[in-house]
Amino acid sequence: MRKPFMTGNWKMNKTVGEGAELVKALADMVWGVEDVTIAVCPPFTALQPIGQALRNTNIALGAQGMFWKTEGAYTGEVSPGMLKDVGCTYVILGHSERRGRFGVPDKDVTEELITVFGDNDATVNKKALFALDQGLKPIVCCGELLSERQAGNTDAVVVSQIKAALQGITAEQMADVTLAYEPVWAIGTGEVCEADEADRVCGVVRSTVVELYGDCVAQATIIQYGGSVKPDNIAGLIAKENIDGGLVGGASLKAADFAALVKAASSRA
Ligand code: 13P
Repeated sequence: MRKPFMTGNWKMNKTVGEGAELVKALADMVWGVEDVTIAVCPPFTALQPIGQALRNTNIALGAQGMFWKTEGAYTGEVSPGMLKDVGCTYVILGHSERRGRFGVPDKDVTEELITVFGDNDATVNKKALFALDQGLKPIVCCGELLSERQAGNTDAVVVSQIKAALQGITAEQMADVTLAYEPVWAIGTGEVCEADEADRVCGVVRSTVVELYGDCVAQATIIQYGGSVKPDNIAGLIAKENIDGGLVGGASLKAADFAALVKAASSRA
């Protein structure tokens, strides 16, 4: 039986003070929940103090990205060792927003501008390998654009992103890898992927893991769904065979909402 995993991706939200307030309230609300893995991923600026605030709670800390070197002349980047130093267990890798793939068009953040800084299949793979090497657990994201879905390419996109990200990762290391299916068109749009379809694509992700590592590893791999997960749609999603939890943006910014998601996952466990 896979343990459900709910991760809050705060994205570019929360000052130190706001984040501390959020996790204080959240920690009280989810205290005692042992059958769900719970993590929050604040922005880099808040990791250290939030890590402190999470001590003696059942909530783990994660980061939203990292670089594939231990140290050096990489201006603006952060190493896995630095993330572990402030208490991180997890790191989100290959999020569509880091790949420059957006569900909501933004005239100030065009694909052309953002990809200069962004991830691609090759960097996601390098980061995943290095995270594992350094003892951080990657949450590796995949997902299709609306145009790719409309062209009937959803499965092909997801399979190719997963295969690229996992290249060189061993079956043993897969125990520390979480996969997240996040259809880009459902991120921050309020448009959730229907539970049956989300489950189907998470099933495609699992089949890809079967192909690469065999059934045993695939049955143990945690696969999250992400994209407008809210308290009012979590029950349908978490009930599905291939959905083991959520990678949650907007609803992780309010303690009561994220706690409700954790409790929904707990009732399935
Ligand atoms: P929303 O829950 O705000 O749609 O964001 C999902 C997401 O991208 C989490 O990583």
